[in-house]
Parts: sequence; C-alpha cells; structure tokens
Amino acid sequence: MSTLASYSRWALGVVVLGVSVLAQPAVAQKTFDVSVLAGSCANCHGTDGRSQTVIPNLAGQPEDQLRQKLYDFKSDTPPANTTVMNRLVKALSDEQLDALANYFAQQPATLTQGAK
Ligand code: HEC
Repeated sequence: MSTLASYSRWALGVVVLGVSVLAQPAVAQKTFDVSVLAGSCANCHGTDGRSQTVIPNLAGQPEDQLRQKLYDFKSDTPPANTTVMNRLVKALSDEQLDALANYFAQQPATLTQGAK
C-alpha cells in the first residue's frame, strides 16, 4: 500500500469526521407538543382537564395557580396529601410544566351546549 493511498484515506476520514461533528446542532433543542403531554393527564383529569371525578378539575384554573401547584408537586416537599402527582411531574421539565399550566388555564371549564 502506497503512502499516498493511506494518507488520502486518513485525510478522508478526518473530513468525514469533521463534517459529522459539524452536522450536530450546537445546542440540543428539546421540543415537545403540549397537547400530546396534556393528553397523558386526561386519564385522570378528564378530557382537557375537565374532571368528572374526585380528581381535581384543571380546566380554566388560573395559570399561576396551576403552575404553582405543579412546582409544589415537583419540589422536595410536596403537599402532605399528595398521592401520585409528585411522581408524575418528576419526569417533566419546568418548561413543560409551564406549558401545561398555560394549556389547562385556556381550556373552558364547562362546554357550552352543542360543543364537542
Ligand atoms: C394517575 C392519575 C393522574 C394523572 C395521570 C395526572 N394526575 Fe394530576 N392529579 C391526580 C391526583 C390524584 C391529584 C390530587 C393530588 C395527588 O393526590 O397527587 C392531582 C392533582 C393535580 C393538580 C392540582 C390541582 C388542584 O387544583 O389542586 C394539578 C395542577 C395536576 N394534577 C396536573 C396534572 C397534569 C398537568 C397532568 C399530566 C401531565 C396530570 N395532573 C396527570 C391524578 C393524576
């Protein structure tokens, strides 16, 4: 094998490696769809947070209040009577909690007749 051939293969390798490193986004942007996240809450809190059960209603609560409750659940000292929410919010980023608070605050607490 000639020196030139092995050199050019090495050079090609460097170029390919360089390009693949440059192709990575500078900052990994995490994106999420809040309506998909909110869908995971519906099993317990009802469609769009309109609860028909003893589980608290989320739809139409003030955004600040919802956000504060979510942060409280995520804190090291969740409210004493918390059963599941502290574990559920652990997997969510603060950004996702903010988006969920905003989402549920915008949902109508009651549906007007005829609306689905
Ligand atoms: C397994 C059932 C379950 C799921 C799924 C669930 N929750 Fe809850 N949620 C509860 C229960 C039960 C409570 C009452 C607090 C507790 O016991 O943990 C609650 C309380 C809350 C509260 C406080 C409401 C209030 O007025 O005090 C908020 C806000 C909330 N949940 C948001 C969410 C969001 C957002 C999601 C989806 C990411 C979600 N929950 C998913 C069961 C659930």
